[in-house]
Amino acid sequence: MTMKLAFIGTGQISGAHLNGLAKLNEHLGTERPYELAALADPRADAAEGLAAAAEKKLGRRPAIYSDYRTMLEAESLDAAALLVPHNLHWSIARDCLDAGLHLQVQKPIAITIADGRRIIDYARDKKRAMVVSEPSVLGRNTRAFFAAMRSEALVGPPTMLLDYAVTTLGGGFFMGTPWRHLKGMAGAGWFLDHGVHRTHWFLEALGSVEDAFGLAKTFEPVRRDDKHGEFSVDNEDCAMTVLRFASGVLGHFLVASAGRGAGFGGVRVYGAQGVADLSGGTAQRDGEAARPLGELTAPFRDESIPGDAMAHSFLELHQLASGGAQPISSGERALEALAIIYACLEASMTGRTTPIADILSGAAHLYEDSIEAARPQWTDAEPIHVS
Ligand SMILES: NC(=O)c1ccc[n+]([C@@H]2O[C@H](COP(=O)([O-])OP(=O)(O)OC[C@H]3O[C@@H](n4cnc5c(N)ncnc54)[C@H](O)[C@@H]3O)[C@@H](O)[C@H]2O)c1
Repeated sequence: MTMKLAFIGTGQISGAHLNGLAKLNEHLGTERPYELAALADPRADAAEGLAAAAEKKLGRRPAIYSDYRTMLEAESLDAAALLVPHNLHWSIARDCLDAGLHLQVQKPIAITIADGRRIIDYARDKKRAMVVSEPSVLGRNTRAFFAAMRSEALVGPPTMLLDYAVTTLGGGFFMGTPWRHLKGMAGAGWFLDHGVHRTHWFLEALGSVEDAFGLAKTFEPVRRDDKHGEFSVDNEDCAMTVLRFASGVLGHFLVASAGRGAGFGGVRVYGAQGVADLSGGTAQRDGEAARPLGELTAPFRDESIPGDAMAHSFLELHQLASGGAQPISSGERALEALAIIYACLEASMTGRTTPIADILSGAAHLYEDSIEAARPQWTDAEPIHVS
């Protein structure tokens, strides 16, 4: 069945999603799982640009709306991809579910655990399919890596995770978007934005996390660029954390957007017999030379999975909506990934190690209270000022 799809939000990530649709068409051959029928964004130039790109890539120009609610009334749609700032995920998801649509929600699933839970529960109540687009766990090669890790073929049983990412913004905004630095629109900062990609990956590679400790800080409370001017920002630009996995693995996880001069990064998983260096793309066992991960994981590749992660996400939505396989990147898994981030930030406020279960249940919510307090200011913000 060809599903009529809309994109709500046509900002920076929308091009990768458009590309994902084209790649899915290539992967499936003649079958067309989606028709991109409409786009909605109050920024007319952004919507026009994506419509032109869609016409080139998919052979059809989608209709454009400045208000997604008008689009929901005017178009006969089957599904929507939500590509908007985090504070809007739940309210727009609710309107789409009320209109009977299936949903692909961007990572993070929502700005708070409570909002994420609302999306999951409402989709279930409305009997609509809902997936989270999390490219860090999707795509053929990534799935092959996880299968190889689980078979213990790469490094044996895992023992330690080291994951570091420091980016340099020169006092400006990540991806040129001030909203990412505002608690009331984004939740936490780059630690959340980049961090949920990583925590979702941790869950797939190493299993669930029991508890977390973290220290977080805002080193640069005022940021500026030529397009947007100066903003006082209120979410953290540095988080240094430790994680304890249920399996006994220990993790050291650092994310910072306050780097100056030069960035820094690396991901390694140590095991009882070796180490996988994800940044270097190799694995090495005791007494052996390092070998390319591509070569080691090749026997685990499943050709039925699209190579492109965004294409895989759209395939997951289509399969779920058609009554098929449960998604890898489900709402529940995305919520768990978000809870790890908020457990670290909760610990930074309380000074105590925080169980992930307490964030998921709502028993620990100090950090999320600070998001709720910051939200009202941005509820009706003009997107043009912050995108
Ligand atoms: N999967 C990934 O790897 C990935 C990468 C980047 C961003 N994202 C996620 O995608 C989402 C969007 O990120 P982005 O980088 O494209 O941000 P962006 O700021 O570039 O784009 C957001 C767009 O939403 C539009 N918008 C705001 N309010 C709207 C409304 N009420 N109705 C319709 N459109 C509205 C804005 O005008 C803007 O064009 C976020 O959730 C982000 O975390 C995912």
